[in-house]
Amino acid sequence: MNRYLADEAATNALAEEVFAALPADLADWTLLLSGELGAGKSTFARAFIRAAGHEGPIPSPTYTLVEPYKFASLSIYHIDLYRVADSEELRYLGYNELDDGLCLVEWPERVPELANDADLILELRYEGDARLASIRGLSERGSALIQKIN
Ligand SMILES: Nc1ncnc2c1ncn2[C@@H]1O[C@H](COP(=O)(O)OP(=O)(O)OP(=O)(O)O)[C@@H](O)[C@H]1O
Ligand SMILES: [Mg+2]
Repeated sequence: MNRYLADEAATNALAEEVFAALPADLADWTLLLSGELGAGKSTFARAFIRAAGHEGPIPSPTYTLVEPYKFASLSIYHIDLYRVADSEELRYLGYNELDDGLCLVEWPERVPELANDADLILELRYEGDARLASIRGLSERGSALIQKIN
């Protein structure tokens, strides 16, 4: 699925749409957010986390690697792998010990193996001052979700 995102509000709206299309039980879903520096990965993640009900600041996980958000019946982990070298380092940093929850992963290309267990990949590209988004399913349930929002 491709979508032209004219401005930041359009990126936010897409994040809200994806969140609304997900099933109630989000545990163990993984969404990969791909694209160059400044393409809008964090913008999407922040709008998604707000759509889940979080109020207040949403700091960048670039240095902490993982920022957790706990809700009554769900956790969201906002992850940024920009500074991570490979899957071994990610394991060392404790990625495999995260409790159940939905993972939003920026810079997933740092650890290509992540795609094996992911559900969706959002790729953001510059289109002049705007952006082009492409969303693909990486799992059966991910592909079903794309059909729903198409
Ligand atoms: N559809 C859009 N059109 C134009 N500008 C946008 C759009 N979506 C987001 N932006 C703007 O682009 C910038 C994106 O910054 P953001 O931090 O989200 O990028 P990022 O992909 O997370 O970058 P990084 O690789 O550094 O983590 C913000 O200034 C935001 O306002
Ligand atoms: Mg970012």
